[in-house]
Amino acid sequence: MSQQRGVIGVIGAGTMGRGIVQLFAEAGHEVRLYDTQDGAAARGRDFVADLLRRAADKGRIKPEQMEATLGRIRPQSELGGLAGCDVVIEAVIEDLGVKRELFRALEPIVGEHAILASNTSSLLVAEIAAACARPLRVAGLHFFNPVPLMKVVEVIAAVRTAPETVAALKQLVEGAGHRAVVAADQPGFLVNHAGRGLYTEGLRVVEEQAATPAQVDTLMREAAGFRMGPFELLDLTGLDVSGKVMESIYEQFQHEPRFRPSSLVRPRIAAGLYGRKSGEGWYRYEGQSRVEPAAPRPAPAKLTQAAKPVAVRKAHAFKPGDTVTEDDIRAMPDSAYMDDVQLEYFRGLLLKMRNEVLARELDVKERLHQREVFADPADRATAEEEHWLDLRLRERESMLLRKIDDALRRIRDKEYGYCVKTGEPIGIPRLLARPTATVCVDVKGQDEKVETHFRDR
Ligand SMILES: NC(=O)c1ccc[n+]([C@@H]2O[C@H](COP(=O)([O-])OP(=O)(O)OC[C@H]3O[C@@H](n4cnc5c(N)ncnc54)[C@H](O)[C@@H]3O)[C@@H](O)[C@H]2O)c1
Repeated sequence: MSQQRGVIGVIGAGTMGRGIVQLFAEAGHEVRLYDTQDGAAARGRDFVADLLRRAADKGRIKPEQMEATLGRIRPQSELGGLAGCDVVIEAVIEDLGVKRELFRALEPIVGEHAILASNTSSLLVAEIAAACARPLRVAGLHFFNPVPLMKVVEVIAAVRTAPETVAALKQLVEGAGHRAVVAADQPGFLVNHAGRGLYTEGLRVVEEQAATPAQVDTLMREAAGFRMGPFELLDLTGLDVSGKVMESIYEQFQHEPRFRPSSLVRPRIAAGLYGRKSGEGWYRYEGQSRVEPAAPRPAPAKLTQAAKPVAVRKAHAFKPGDTVTEDDIRAMPDSAYMDDVQLEYFRGLLLKMRNEVLARELDVKERLHQREVFADPADRATAEEEHWLDLRLRERESMLLRKIDDALRRIRDKEYGYCVKTGEPIGIPRLLARPTATVCVDVKGQDEKVETHFRDR
């Protein structure tokens, strides 16, 4: 049966590769799995074995079925092991250079009739195919996570993909019980283009402190009827993977503002908060179970200790849902220790405060307007007094607004402290009071002695 069904090669034994292997092995194909990481292909097979064993224990599949499926999965230690495959599906990291190099190396290994498909989420298939001598047989085959359960697969026809290649891939997908939808080779194809509304807006809501990730997720599930909210989905996909998709779609849409990736993403990727795969993302996980909403990560212990003389209570006190007052900001000491995640919360607090100031301004404007229209001449004296008071208030507020904007700009331009040793941002100079200062912390020698000084730019 496996011979009639054609041999499938899968490259990359990560989240997607393992799912693709399971789908086609269960559908009766011989599937060869290759990954550059030592032992990853074998671990990929073990992963599928574990899932199938659980399904067998629950009586969802027969033990013989499980054995037969596992017998069709063949881990390979070299790319050359994919010689003779009819279709090879690539599910390696989302990097154009890596994918192009891989396709270039693969082409002479597989026969001329073989189809090469990429599971890319966001790269243009035509750009991958351009590395190949025979782009006619190259297409996109975009699965969704988890592959065995997500029944739709996008088949992407690049500019030079032959119609027969598209037809063969449709047949392959449908033969495995999934539904194939042909989509154009355009940024994000269909699903990831539409999905920007969910991810990008969800992130923006959190960035502006309008709601927490858990609140957004609950709303999207319970009011909008989604199976998962954007943050749950980001944790499932992996922020390292989704972050690249966000950047790539933004690039491909020529920096259209509505696709701008949220500034919350990069620091979280840098901190390894990928989601389920790293044990923590927007939520915390133990095994496959969610344990609690993630709190801001504490600063790395070594640096916190080392930086104690300049470390700051305020910075550590900031957390989602906090409010910050003008006095808090004025009271900020010369240097505040913040890692990138805390810095993002601080930024969120500033944005919230900015919104409040703007709302107050609107309120004052509205009151002045009402008075102009409806004031009783008898009340004029009081009204004029109030008017001047309002103006003074507006003046004060607009100064505050300027300071907030300046602080936001400096956060954006990374004008805050950094550790000389690691190059990581570690502190904020008194953002509002010392516009030209950069705080530097020198970590010297083995004993990590810390010296803090200001350097004027
Ligand atoms: N995670 C998702 O939800 C999702 C959904 C749809 C599409 N995708 C796309 O699928 C692809 C893989 O995503 P993932 O989440 O499975 O990634 P992953 O990080 O879980 O796995 C990638 C695997 O590829 C291996 N690898 C890297 N370079 C390689 C190379 N040159 N040759 C062989 N193996 C190599 C890595 O060792 C790793 O095991 C990406 O293009 C991603 O955009 C991901």
